[in-house]
Amino acid sequence: MERSERTVVAVGIGTMVVFFALVLLLATGFRVDVPGCITEVKPFERDTVFQVAEKRYELHVVARMWAYQMPAVEFPAGSTVDIYLTSADVIHGFHIDRTNVNLMAVPGTVAYAQVRFHEAGEYPIVCHEYCGIGHQQMLGVIRVVQ
Ligand code: CUA
Repeated sequence: MERSERTVVAVGIGTMVVFFALVLLLATGFRVDVPGCITEVKPFERDTVFQVAEKRYELHVVARMWAYQMPAVEFPAGSTVDIYLTSADVIHGFHIDRTNVNLMAVPGTVAYAQVRFHEAGEYPIVCHEYCGIGHQQMLGVIRVVQ
């Protein structure tokens, strides 16, 4: 093997080691995890939003063909919101624009994400899983006020 080849192989292996170490660090040190289903909450049938403490909220969303029928959702800026998501019919998506919330609503299961809304404004929600003929109009919005 030539010197240049050894260099390329070493850089490749070194890059993989650095990436693997970063994944381990994020998963253990910062508890960064992919969203998944939770088992301690049973699937629910109603959309609700309620305040748990100052600037802490819980939002329960039931995705349905082809709308998010949650109540008008408005949070003060700086709020932390626990989102619980399920589906009444087929698999839907739930992506809140300008956040890292990107969940799948699967019938019979509950998905969970926590998000902090730092800035005031409108945060559109889109369904990103093809769920039938009305998929493209399945939208929602969260309003964050000062
Ligand atoms: Cu719901 Cu696509």
